[in-house]
Amino acid sequence: MHKQITSSLLRRSSPLLSRGNNYKPIVLLRGAGASQPHLNTTTTTGYQPQLHHHQHVQIQTRYSSHSPMGLPPTNPRKKVTLNTLQSMYKKGEKITMITAHDFPSAHVAEHAGMDMILVGDSLAMVALGMEDTSEVLVEEMLLHCRSVARATSRAFTVGDLPMGSYEISPQQALSTAIRFIKEGRVSAVKLEGGAEMAPTIRAITTAGIPVLAHIGLTPQRQNALGGFRVQGKSKESAKRLLRDALAVQEAGAFAMVVEAVPQEVAAFITGLLKIPTIGIGAGNGTSGQVLVQADMTGNFPPGRFLPKFVKKYGDVWGEALRAIETYRDEVKGGSYPAEEHTYPMAKEEVEAFVGDVRRLMNANASAKAEGEGEKDA
Ligand code: KIV
Repeated sequence: MHKQITSSLLRRSSPLLSRGNNYKPIVLLRGAGASQPHLNTTTTTGYQPQLHHHQHVQIQTRYSSHSPMGLPPTNPRKKVTLNTLQSMYKKGEKITMITAHDFPSAHVAEHAGMDMILVGDSLAMVALGMEDTSEVLVEEMLLHCRSVARATSRAFTVGDLPMGSYEISPQQALSTAIRFIKEGRVSAVKLEGGAEMAPTIRAITTAGIPVLAHIGLTPQRQNALGGFRVQGKSKESAKRLLRDALAVQEAGAFAMVVEAVPQEVAAFITGLLKIPTIGIGAGNGTSGQVLVQADMTGNFPPGRFLPKFVKKYGDVWGEALRAIETYRDEVKGGSYPAEEHTYPMAKEEVEAFVGDVRRLMNANASAKAEGEGEKDA
């Protein structure tokens, strides 16, 4: 619908006249049902989606920055299941796990070929700016689980049950775990604790929900543990750890995270188990490793404390800071946006538009002056 340019429309929309809308079109592909087999296109993220003959494709061009982040990779690798994890474990192939807390962090982990993606409650700190994990709510975890699940087509996804959502009784734990599967769209849940959590693990696994146990340093219990301390450092404490590992295995956990434990103890316990151990700060003798993504990609400001076991593989903070500072400088200095970031308009159209608006403004000004003249007279 074309609107006439009126002076009131002009007044209402005038801020827009000077604002550039530098949006890039993107092509959205949506699968639904009919056939479009020969479509040959590439999304802005560079994927070449493999379309099957039964897929209906709706193409929509959005001149907007508010575009989806791209499709999950059309990955030739098979979806990771519990069977895949067991067979990696049996072959002695290390299992790779990383945390993700939203669509972009899961998207990149999926592209990098992670076997498992954990929506850890560490997102309380790295995504929500909280002091520790005790504050994060089930609803918050579910929101993050859902966004991670949308980015994940191959990796096996696990959602962390937050403190307070599973300790009261096995029934409470089971009903939270069910929410994680139904609402969070993850494939399994993780919970912290050893032998004392065995009945809880049993209740959840009996209902058909896979459980990843978490023993050793259990950050949700930091107050009871006297802080974030290495566990299993003495003979007695190492024996307790072994009891925990055997109890959670017996209760039906498909694997366990072993956190902040001397590597000899972690390796010895791993050798006694029939399910994989995923180490974090537990040396190289576990069946796999997990790290918090923000830590290992270096997505934090300089000077932040990092535990000894973290290896910083990248400098995401440094790169983002450099990019944003450059953007700031270019906007302040007027060099962004440049010609190539703008939409073309035919010269005659621009002249006609400006001419119309000027004539209208002049007419308005004359009418106003006339009105004031009449008032004065
Ligand atoms: O919350 C988390 O990210 C975790 C990992 C450190 C294992 O529990």
